[in-house]
Amino acid sequence: MNMQKNIAVIRGDGIGPEIVEQALLVLDTIAKKYGHTFHYTDVDMGGCAIDKWGDPLPEEMLEKCKNADSVLLGAVGGEKWNHVPGHMRPEKGLLRLRAGMGVYSNNRPAKIWKQLSEASPLRADIVEKGIDFIIVRELTGGIYFGEHKTEEKEGQAIATDILVYSEEEIRRIGRIGFETARKRNKKLCSVEKSNVLDSSRLWKKVMHELASEYPDVELTDMLVDNCAMQIVKNPAQFDVVVTENMFGDILSDEASMITGSIGMIPSSSMGDTKNGLYEPIHGSAPDIAGKDLANPIGTILSAAMMLLYSFDMKEEATAIENAVSEVLDEGYRTADIMSNKKNCMQIGTKEMGIRIADKL
Ligand code: IPM
Ligand code: MG
Repeated sequence: MNMQKNIAVIRGDGIGPEIVEQALLVLDTIAKKYGHTFHYTDVDMGGCAIDKWGDPLPEEMLEKCKNADSVLLGAVGGEKWNHVPGHMRPEKGLLRLRAGMGVYSNNRPAKIWKQLSEASPLRADIVEKGIDFIIVRELTGGIYFGEHKTEEKEGQAIATDILVYSEEEIRRIGRIGFETARKRNKKLCSVEKSNVLDSSRLWKKVMHELASEYPDVELTDMLVDNCAMQIVKNPAQFDVVVTENMFGDILSDEASMITGSIGMIPSSSMGDTKNGLYEPIHGSAPDIAGKDLANPIGTILSAAMMLLYSFDMKEEATAIENAVSEVLDEGYRTADIMSNKKNCMQIGTKEMGIRIADKL
């Protein structure tokens, strides 16, 4: 069935524009092949929006995202804006976007591509057991959204960041964790710091209350410091991990690294509607911006997730994943996933995009 979809496109800063360009090439190729029409609306967010509008996410830009069928984002931030006040930073635009769209559930797959097993920093015998899990990260609560302040008291600066969670916030992300596990291998690991934090003790309690609604899913608890260790020691033990905002931020970088490169990992962020936010989990990498060095695959796979989760285009999404796999099979690599294995050829951002699109 031919579909018409409106996609808000945030190119952002650093490598953002060049990786998004390649994802749009792939989306255009899909549209042509399957008879869909994708309309793109440009949205300014992050450092470029600060330069242009004096605000990392002007209200009308947020409205454009809320009114779209879904949002594709490259990356935001950079050295240039590191010294602006906290509430004006490019990252604040991203946080306001997540909150404004109500996308409280962030899904970050950590899956090793067989072609890239050598790019993993882990020992071969650990990689061989398989790495295929998903981190379900709470995205619109916790310490990212509590009060932040720095004050002067008795001659010294004191900084405060408050970590708050309500039962309801925990319950709704907990449900996503259980539902995600139900569609996979039915193992859910809830990660917290309940030996120290009240918010984590509440987290654990709510997860166990929910468990009775999901008797088919096996729930385990793990402290976050132990989880950091287990991810490198025995990643094969994980199926779905559910955790709060900041723990999820940290663990998802770690999980991506063991799969070879953070440049490969897409993400979806959803709330209670089909309008999702899709972005690679890496940052704006200003050091390599504009040099045709960035890996566009994380963004291309994010576009595939958009087709699957927001538009119910399963066949199209699978076609993109297969195209990526074929290009990797042929030995083409961007710098971040290059290895000196025989038959590997280093190519740039653009060529990677074109080669993937050509396979569709
Ligand atoms: C991520 C990023 C963001 C986060 C930053 C850019 C605010 O690290 O998406 O993981 O911490 O959520
Ligand atoms: Mg992060």
